[in-house]
Amino acid sequence: MTRHFLNLADAGGDAIAAMIADALDRKAARLEWPKGKADADAPLAGHILAVIFEKSSTRTRVSFDVGMRQLGGSPIVMDSGSMQLGRGETVADTAKVLSRMCDAIMIRTDDHAKIEEMAANASVPVINGLTDLSHPCQIVADLLTLVEHGKTLPGLEIAWLGDGNNVLNSIVEAAGLMKFNVRIGCPQGYDPDPAFIEQAKVAGSNVAIFRDENEAVRGADVVVTDTWVSMGQEHVHNKLAAMMPYQVNDVLMEQAKDDALFLHCLPAHRGEEVMPSVIDGPQSVVWDEAENRIHAQKSILRWVFGQI
Ligand code: CP
Ligand code: NVA
Repeated sequence: MTRHFLNLADAGGDAIAAMIADALDRKAARLEWPKGKADADAPLAGHILAVIFEKSSTRTRVSFDVGMRQLGGSPIVMDSGSMQLGRGETVADTAKVLSRMCDAIMIRTDDHAKIEEMAANASVPVINGLTDLSHPCQIVADLLTLVEHGKTLPGLEIAWLGDGNNVLNSIVEAAGLMKFNVRIGCPQGYDPDPAFIEQAKVAGSNVAIFRDENEAVRGADVVVTDTWVSMGQEHVHNKLAAMMPYQVNDVLMEQAKDDALFLHCLPAHRGEEVMPSVIDGPQSVVWDEAENRIHAQKSILRWVFGQI
């Protein structure tokens, strides 16, 4: 069976825990090494990864490129605009051709149905580098960052403030798999996907939506936010006004536990979803989180190839 990674549930909780452990080990084994040097065991030597972007990216692009090289393999990074995919060649045909030329495909796209179509037509693993629905690779890096900073995932209280977007959907999905709880502070009309909430609840996690931002953050171990306007969304005037009470600032952070950590997948918009005093302050671990995209991608790649 080809292992695709379209959502976190494709791997499941045990595999995600194993990915985190693997990433911590591999990160520790190459401290201070030049970033382009391959890991000693080069476990993906001879493998080619197609890395396709239909939307902008800095972290996902560079971390898959660098991560694949560190595993001893080779990435081919492409923007869809310079591919025939951008001129109307179908997703299905693209999947079939790339399956003959490459060993795995990572794609960032808009409609989640497209990546499902890619996976259905590919005979090699397909990895979700973000869709409008979810961002599973980001959440493996986020969980790795929390564990690295001494947090224990089961029972953890994670507060999300702002837009109920793709990143939040994957956090909620992870909650059910890793047994933590999510307290969501967001305005009416911007809730996350109810299917992910239902799934997490069935798995025994508490996922609660609050319209009062203080209630969402009170006693949290982790505070997370993301842009109020995701890629592909229109700038809607009313939306920013509706989001303003959920801005992560010092007053809101005081409601969380004293040792609460702050996460943001980046790119950030200082003065909108987060104030500089928080994202550039002592509780923020966003630079570790960004670096951990490399270590997380490597473990995800090893998982799709059956090495984890
Ligand atoms: N967090 C994240 O996915 O960043 P990029 O959009 O830069 O890849
Ligand atoms: N929610 C954001 C995440 C960017 C990494 C977006 O989809 O644009």
